[in-house]
Amino acid sequence: MVETIEERRPGGGGARTSRAAERAQPLGEVGSAEGHRVNVPIGEFNRVLGGGLVPGSLVLIGGDPGIGKSTLVLQAAAGIAAQSGTVLYVSAEESAQQIKLRAERLAVPMDDLWVLSETNLTAVIEAAEEQRPALLIVDSIQTVWVDDITSAAGSVSQVRECTARLMQWAKPRNIPVMLIGHVTKEGTIAGPRVLEHMVDAVLYLEGDRFHQYRILRGVKNRFGSTDEVGVFEMADAGLREVRSPSEAFLEERRDGTSGSTVAVTMEGTRPILVEMQALTTSTSFGLPRRTANGLEANRLQLLVAVLQKRVGLALGGQDIYANVVGGLRIAEPASDLAVATAIASSFRDRPVDGRTALIGEVGLSGELRSVHHIDRRVNEAARLGFQRVIVPRASLRQRGGDAAGVETVRVGTLAEAIEAAMA
Ligand code: TYD
Ligand code: MG
Repeated sequence: MVETIEERRPGGGGARTSRAAERAQPLGEVGSAEGHRVNVPIGEFNRVLGGGLVPGSLVLIGGDPGIGKSTLVLQAAAGIAAQSGTVLYVSAEESAQQIKLRAERLAVPMDDLWVLSETNLTAVIEAAEEQRPALLIVDSIQTVWVDDITSAAGSVSQVRECTARLMQWAKPRNIPVMLIGHVTKEGTIAGPRVLEHMVDAVLYLEGDRFHQYRILRGVKNRFGSTDEVGVFEMADAGLREVRSPSEAFLEERRDGTSGSTVAVTMEGTRPILVEMQALTTSTSFGLPRRTANGLEANRLQLLVAVLQKRVGLALGGQDIYANVVGGLRIAEPASDLAVATAIASSFRDRPVDGRTALIGEVGLSGELRSVHHIDRRVNEAARLGFQRVIVPRASLRQRGGDAAGVETVRVGTLAEAIEAAMA
C-alpha cells in the first residue's frame, strides 16, 4: 500500500495572456531550433543525444549508484563551459569542495563552470534565473525538494513536482537542463516512472562496477534516435571515450582455449565484436546450474535446450556458465550462435579458431535465423582482421556477397555451424 497525500497545486495553470487560437501558426513558419543545439564536446555523449543538447530540453541521465554519472556529467559540463558559456552544476549530494576535488582529479577546465551545493529547488531556480547559464545540471533529482510538498525528497510527488518546475523554468528560457537520477534495484529510475514521461530524453549509463567499460544508452529521445550508444572506459582521470569498442573488448582474448568465441553484436547502428565465454563442468548435486553473466538467463536455458535436443550434446548433467567479457550486457539474439558454440566448444574441450567470428540467431528447431545488418557486422569483423565469419545462410540470401578479405561461411543449422567453427 502506498500512502498518497493530497497536495495543493501551486500557482494555478500558468499565465494565459493571449487566446490559444491566435497563437496557432502554420508548421512551416515555425522557426527551427535544430541549428542551435549545444554541442557536447564528448563525441560519444553528443551522438547519443542526437547531436547535442536541444535548447530548453530536459535530459535525464540514469544509472546505478557509483557507475559514473556525476563523473560523466561533470566532464561534459566542463567541456560545454569551455565552449558555449557558463554551466551551473547544482549538486544536492556533494559539497562544492568535493566537486572541486573531483574536477581536479579529472583535470578539466574550470573557468566558466559554476557549482552550487543546494537541495532546495526554489533556491536552485533562483540561482539559475540570476545566472542564466548555457546549461543547468541538477545532481540528483531525488535529493532536491520543494517546500510546498510535505513528503520527503525522492518521493514520487517531490520528484514529479521538482521536474515540472524545472521544465516550466527551462522551456521558455531555452536553457537545456540535465537531471541525474538513481536507479533502483529493479532497474528503473527510482520513484516515478512518470519522470521518464516528463523529460525529453532519457539516457542510461550502464555497466558493471567491477569492469572498466560503461555504455551510455538512449532509451527515449524526442530529438534523436534511441538506437545510439556511447562506449566509455572508467580510468584514473574519469571516463574516456572508446572509439573502437571491438578492439577494446577483444583485448584480453587468448587464442586456443576452448569455450571462447567471438560474436558480432549491434549496439544501435554500430557493430561491436565481443568475446563470449562458456564453461561446462559435471554437476555434483542433482540440479544442474545455468549461470549467465551479461546475457539473459532464459536465453541461455533455451540455447542449452536446443544444443541438447537438436545437436545431441548431453548437457543434462552439466553445470553451465556463460559470460560476456568486458561487462557488456547483450540482449540481441544475433549473439545466440556465439554463445551456443562456446558451450559446445567447452563441452567437447575443442577450441574454436581465434580468427573466426560467429553471427546468427538460433531457432527452436536448431535452425539459424537471419539477422539484420549482416554486411556491417561482417565488415567490422574484416576490419579487425578476422578471416572467417560464420553466418546464417538465410541472411546472405537477402543481401550482397563477401566483404573484402574475409571468408563468409554460410550455414543452415546450429549443428553445421558448430562443426564449421571447430573444423
Ligand atoms: P560517480 O560519478 O560518483 O558515480 P555516480 O554519480 O553515478 O554515483 O563515480 C564514482 C565511481 O567512479 C567511483 O567508484 C570511483 C570511480 N572513478 C574513477 O574510477 N575514476 C575517476 O576519475 C573518478 C572521478 C571516479
Ligand atoms: Mg553522483
